[in-house]
Amino acid sequence: MSGSVKIAFGFLSAPKGSALVVFVGADMKPAPAVTAQFGDLEPLIRAAAKASNFRAAQRSALDILAPAGLDASRLVVVGVAPGKDNAPVDFITLGGFTFGKLTGAKRAEVAFEAPSGTWDGTAAADFALGLRLRGYRFDKYKTRKKDSEDNGEIPDFVIGSSHALAARAAAQERFAVAEGVELARNLVNEPPNVLFPVEFAERAKALEKLGVTVETLDEKAMGKLGMNALLAVGRGSARESRLVAMRWNGARSKRTKPIAVVGKGVCFDSGGISIKPSAGMEDMKGDMGGAACVVGLMHALAARKAKVNIVGIVGLVENMPDGDAIRPGDIITSMSGQTIEIVNTDAEGRLVLADALWYTQETYSPRAIIDLATLTGAIIVALGAEVAGLFSNNDELAQRLAAASEASGEKVWRMPLGAAYDKMIDSKFADMKNTGGRHGGAITAAQFIQRFVRETPWAHIDVAGTAMGSPPSDINQSWGSGWGVRLLNRLMADSYED
Ligand code: BES
Ligand code: MN
Ligand code: ZN
Repeated sequence: MSGSVKIAFGFLSAPKGSALVVFVGADMKPAPAVTAQFGDLEPLIRAAAKASNFRAAQRSALDILAPAGLDASRLVVVGVAPGKDNAPVDFITLGGFTFGKLTGAKRAEVAFEAPSGTWDGTAAADFALGLRLRGYRFDKYKTRKKDSEDNGEIPDFVIGSSHALAARAAAQERFAVAEGVELARNLVNEPPNVLFPVEFAERAKALEKLGVTVETLDEKAMGKLGMNALLAVGRGSARESRLVAMRWNGARSKRTKPIAVVGKGVCFDSGGISIKPSAGMEDMKGDMGGAACVVGLMHALAARKAKVNIVGIVGLVENMPDGDAIRPGDIITSMSGQTIEIVNTDAEGRLVLADALWYTQETYSPRAIIDLATLTGAIIVALGAEVAGLFSNNDELAQRLAAASEASGEKVWRMPLGAAYDKMIDSKFADMKNTGGRHGGAITAAQFIQRFVRETPWAHIDVAGTAMGSPPSDINQSWGSGWGVRLLNRLMADSYED
């Protein structure tokens, strides 16, 4: 199962068999509270530090086995000395890093006390969030868990803090967000034979237990609305397409117009008739990473009862080659009435978003719209796997996103939009064509989407590089990263909640 780490706040006893975690700065002195409970550990730490050149820098640790004078079988000393830039400790990262030093232990007890100064309850809660994000596993399809190398024992954690009460309260909110991240990761990691559009819609429907209103449109309903761009993508697939709308009305006034978050949910992208090369095609099960983020975000906001009105919309399709699939050369009429010449059936995400965005504006008149999509390989060429591409028609929204990005550590970089790029998708035969060629591919894709946005403040985030397959980090070891849930949760908290 994709279970999650057990984390409790409580009193420490560091019994036999456990690992005791303490923090030190360059002076190798644990906090006075630690010394009061476990005795003077400094001489032991000093000796071990000398033997292994440990200087207590951040992201370094010392593992002392069978520590003299303690019942615990390991004493794990984690460095928190300030770096050259004197930046404050990032406790989420610290939690993730610490977790990484503890595989193999059955029980880990963390003496969460600042060696000097103070760490409050929110710091402890951030630390717990880091543990939890790092501890995520997706191994439900592994039948031989014992011999798989990434299946080292995961310890149960007890965090001891002199602010345990505040920590517990602050952790509750963070764990709601962690659940959202885990849900998004699960959706991205699921194989495409299991998670096809109808099944994805079912998983979204499960949010009803948190008080989210979930409405699903089937192909017939979408046909009536004229969503021919979205439906065109699913034409070649034996699996039916869906559109799901999830509403959470947590604001004090239920009449406040919602923020809309729209996700690309291509459950598998073979490219269609413009079929992709075989190498790496299995990764295209993650082409619903935008939609996964939207569902994860809705979970997070509902689970923590966020005081915001929000609607999450996902367009769910599978892009396959078939005798009935759309062809290069086809011209379709989108829900907006604008016509699109298909020149490449592998540029399918923008077709899904075109109708999903139009439907969102028609139905909800949102205050702002943010869409997330694994839209282009070009954004990976431009920004790699560390940073997502941000496009916006509104400086204020873009700045709010940039601030949330700084605060959450999920980084975005703003890319340009403009008439010269827009011209590149004009078509000889229709209102527009669905690709503008290789040059500026992420930008022309964004221009295409913008043609389906009216006056509403809008931001488009191309998550092709960040939603999946990014290098493992302190807080994420999973292929599907759940990227964006923490970013948008932060945006809502800082900019839109009552
Ligand atoms: N889903 C892909 C983009 C993608 C590529 C996401 C790699 C994640 C990793 C998208 O549908 C696509 O195929 N885009 C094409 C557009 C091109 C045909 C204009 C691309 O980027 O090559
Ligand atoms: Mn594609
Ligand atoms: Zn795609």
